[in-house]
Amino acid sequence: MMHILIETPRLYIRELLPEDEKGMFEMDSDPEVHRYLGGKYSTSIDQERAYINNVRQQYIDNGIGRWAMIEKSTNEFVGWTGFKLLHGPINNHSNFHDFGYRLARRFWGQGYASEAAYASLHYGIANFGFKKIYAMTDVDNVVSRKLLEKLGFKFIEIFEYNTQPYWRNPNEPTTWYEYDVKRINNK
Ligand SMILES: CC(C)(COP(=O)(O)OP(=O)(O)OC[C@H]1O[C@@H](n2cnc3c(N)ncnc32)[C@H](O)[C@@H]1OP(=O)(O)O)[C@@H](O)C(=O)NCCC(=O)NCCS
Repeated sequence: MMHILIETPRLYIRELLPEDEKGMFEMDSDPEVHRYLGGKYSTSIDQERAYINNVRQQYIDNGIGRWAMIEKSTNEFVGWTGFKLLHGPINNHSNFHDFGYRLARRFWGQGYASEAAYASLHYGIANFGFKKIYAMTDVDNVVSRKLLEKLGFKFIEIFEYNTQPYWRNPNEPTTWYEYDVKRINNK
């Protein structure tokens, strides 16, 4: 398989590729997946095509972008995880790396997000020299918040977006998490 960055027991983590559009559409057309993401689920595969093109442009412009998770045993697209450079300002931060993950529903509850996120986070720290990484999620997204905390992210505060990204609606309270590499390494 091309472009593999990381191998975990059950997954390959690799660049997002145009061939992922069907798996992405299965994931993003599911309202349940978008429950804590502003509810704007995808209605056309063109949206996935544009998303993948946008991420692939980020690889060129920023050297990094979200990565695909592929199930080794089936070669199926599971979801994405990893880093995105955000220019902001968001919650008074500019030009920072955001960490995130999203999985198609049939892959939930099997530890895949934990497996992929842990490996990707540490790959990013080792290969890109990140000092601080940030993450955001809906206050009610308990599974995502639990996962961030398990990965070592620290809850900092709740904020409201001044400019709304596609995955939030106005006035929805959003949690802000920080992963401070120095603090974790000194523990
Ligand atoms: C959030 C998400 C990525 C979790 O994926 P997942 O593969 O099911 O997560 P994991 O199986 O690795 O579980 C992570 C932790 O949450 C717990 N968990 C999983 N599902 C749970 C549920 N329904 N209720 C309570 N806890 C749950 C797990 O037990 C695990 O904790 P543990 O290691 O202490 O046992 C997935 O639900 C998803 O894609 N949601 C939609 C998109 C989204 O909200 N992304 C994050 C927004 S920023």
